[in-house]
Amino acid sequence: MLRLEHIGIAVRQLEESNELFRKLLGEAHYKIETVESEHVSTSFFKVGETKIELLEATHPDSAIAKFIEKRGEGIHHLAFEVADIRAEIDRLEAEGFVPLNREPKRGADNKWVAFLHPKSTNGVLVELCQNID
Ligand code: CO
Repeated sequence: MLRLEHIGIAVRQLEESNELFRKLLGEAHYKIETVESEHVSTSFFKVGETKIELLEATHPDSAIAKFIEKRGEGIHHLAFEVADIRAEIDRLEAEGFVPLNREPKRGADNKWVAFLHPKSTNGVLVELCQNID
Protein backbone atom coordinates (compact mmCIF):
# COMPACT_ATOMS: atom_id res chain seq x y z
CA MET A 1 0.00 0.00 0.00
CA LEU A 2 1.39 3.39 -0.92
CA ARG A 3 -0.72 5.73 1.22
CA LEU A 4 -4.18 6.50 2.52
CA GLU A 5 -5.57 8.04 -0.67
CA HIS A 6 -8.95 9.09 0.69
CA ILE A 7 -11.64 8.50 3.28
CA GLY A 8 -15.13 7.91 1.88
CA ILE A 9 -18.07 9.36 3.80
CA ALA A 10 -21.69 8.48 3.05
CA VAL A 11 -24.01 11.50 3.11
CA ARG A 12 -27.70 12.03 2.45
CA GLN A 13 -27.46 15.39 0.70
CA LEU A 14 -24.28 16.09 -1.22
CA GLU A 15 -24.92 19.82 -1.63
CA GLU A 16 -25.54 20.37 2.07
CA SER A 17 -22.53 18.26 3.00
CA ASN A 18 -20.32 20.08 0.51
CA GLU A 19 -21.16 23.26 2.38
CA LEU A 20 -20.61 21.61 5.77
CA PHE A 21 -17.22 20.20 4.77
CA ARG A 22 -16.22 23.52 3.18
CA LYS A 23 -16.75 25.14 6.55
CA LEU A 24 -14.99 22.29 8.37
CA LEU A 25 -11.94 22.12 6.11
CA GLY A 26 -11.73 25.79 5.17
CA GLU A 27 -11.70 25.00 1.47
CA ALA A 28 -14.36 23.99 -1.04
CA HIS A 29 -14.48 20.68 -2.88
CA TYR A 30 -12.45 20.66 -6.08
CA LYS A 31 -14.67 18.37 -8.09
CA ILE A 32 -18.00 16.59 -8.33
CA GLU A 33 -18.32 13.38 -10.25
CA THR A 34 -21.20 10.98 -10.80
CA VAL A 35 -20.37 7.30 -11.19
CA GLU A 36 -23.44 5.96 -13.01
CA SER A 37 -22.43 2.30 -12.66
CA GLU A 38 -22.32 2.65 -8.85
CA HIS A 39 -25.36 4.97 -8.59
CA VAL A 40 -23.42 7.59 -6.65
CA SER A 41 -22.53 11.25 -6.86
CA THR A 42 -19.23 12.10 -5.28
CA SER A 43 -17.33 15.22 -4.33
CA PHE A 44 -13.68 15.49 -3.40
CA PHE A 45 -11.84 17.70 -0.93
CA LYS A 46 -8.08 17.91 -0.58
CA VAL A 47 -6.66 17.67 2.92
CA GLY A 48 -2.88 17.75 2.78
CA GLU A 49 -1.67 14.49 1.26
CA THR A 50 -5.06 12.83 1.37
CA LYS A 51 -8.65 13.50 0.35
CA ILE A 52 -12.19 13.28 1.62
CA GLU A 53 -14.71 11.73 -0.76
CA LEU A 54 -18.37 12.46 -0.02
CA LEU A 55 -20.81 9.95 -1.50
CA GLU A 56 -24.51 10.46 -2.09
CA ALA A 57 -26.77 7.74 -3.54
CA THR A 58 -28.46 8.59 -6.84
CA HIS A 59 -30.67 5.49 -6.71
CA PRO A 60 -32.32 3.49 -3.89
CA ASP A 61 -30.40 0.38 -5.04
CA SER A 62 -27.06 2.08 -4.48
CA ALA A 63 -24.75 0.54 -1.88
CA ILE A 64 -24.60 4.01 -0.30
CA ALA A 65 -28.39 4.15 0.09
CA LYS A 66 -28.33 0.75 1.78
CA PHE A 67 -25.42 1.74 4.00
CA ILE A 68 -27.21 4.90 5.21
CA GLU A 69 -30.44 2.99 5.75
CA LYS A 70 -28.61 0.51 7.99
CA ARG A 71 -26.01 2.64 9.72
CA GLY A 72 -26.81 6.27 9.01
CA GLU A 73 -24.41 8.81 7.56
CA GLY A 74 -20.74 8.45 8.33
CA ILE A 75 -17.42 6.91 7.38
CA HIS A 76 -18.04 4.38 4.62
CA HIS A 77 -14.59 3.26 3.47
CA LEU A 78 -10.84 3.79 3.63
CA ALA A 79 -9.09 3.90 0.26
CA PHE A 80 -5.46 2.93 -0.11
CA GLU A 81 -3.49 3.78 -3.20
CA VAL A 82 -1.57 0.85 -4.64
CA ALA A 83 0.94 0.60 -7.46
CA ASP A 84 -0.44 -2.62 -8.97
CA ILE A 85 -4.06 -3.30 -8.05
CA ARG A 86 -4.21 -6.82 -9.52
CA ALA A 87 -1.07 -7.88 -7.67
CA GLU A 88 -2.48 -6.40 -4.43
CA ILE A 89 -5.79 -8.25 -4.85
CA ASP A 90 -3.87 -11.50 -5.30
CA ARG A 91 -1.61 -10.77 -2.32
CA LEU A 92 -4.51 -9.85 -0.03
CA GLU A 93 -6.60 -12.81 -1.09
CA ALA A 94 -3.66 -15.10 -0.30
CA GLU A 95 -3.56 -13.43 3.15
CA GLY A 96 -7.19 -14.38 3.74
CA PHE A 97 -8.97 -11.14 2.87
CA VAL A 98 -12.12 -11.39 0.79
CA PRO A 99 -12.24 -9.25 -2.38
CA LEU A 100 -15.72 -7.97 -3.30
CA ASN A 101 -14.56 -7.65 -6.89
CA ARG A 102 -11.52 -9.50 -8.20
CA GLU A 103 -11.74 -7.57 -11.45
CA PRO A 104 -10.87 -3.87 -10.89
CA LYS A 105 -13.72 -1.48 -11.76
CA ARG A 106 -13.58 2.07 -13.04
CA GLY A 107 -14.25 4.32 -10.04
CA ALA A 108 -14.40 8.06 -9.48
CA ASP A 109 -11.37 10.31 -9.85
CA ASN A 110 -9.88 8.39 -12.78
CA LYS A 111 -8.99 5.25 -10.84
CA TRP A 112 -9.25 1.51 -10.96
CA VAL A 113 -10.88 0.36 -7.76
CA ALA A 114 -11.49 -2.89 -5.90
CA PHE A 115 -13.00 -3.48 -2.47
CA LEU A 116 -12.39 -5.93 0.36
CA HIS A 117 -15.34 -7.34 2.27
CA PRO A 118 -15.62 -5.67 5.70
CA LYS A 119 -16.14 -9.07 7.34
CA SER A 120 -12.47 -9.78 6.59
CA THR A 121 -11.19 -6.36 7.76
CA ASN A 122 -12.63 -5.80 11.24
CA GLY A 123 -15.75 -4.19 9.81
CA VAL A 124 -13.93 -1.60 7.70
CA LEU A 125 -14.75 -1.47 4.00
CA VAL A 126 -11.35 -1.14 2.29
CA GLU A 127 -10.92 0.25 -1.21
CA LEU A 128 -7.78 -0.32 -3.23
CA CYS A 129 -7.22 2.27 -5.94
CA GLN A 130 -4.74 2.77 -8.71
CA ASN A 131 -4.52 5.77 -11.00
CA ILE A 132 -5.54 5.11 -14.59
CA ASP A 133 -2.83 6.54 -16.80
CO1 CO B 1 -13.58 5.86 -2.59
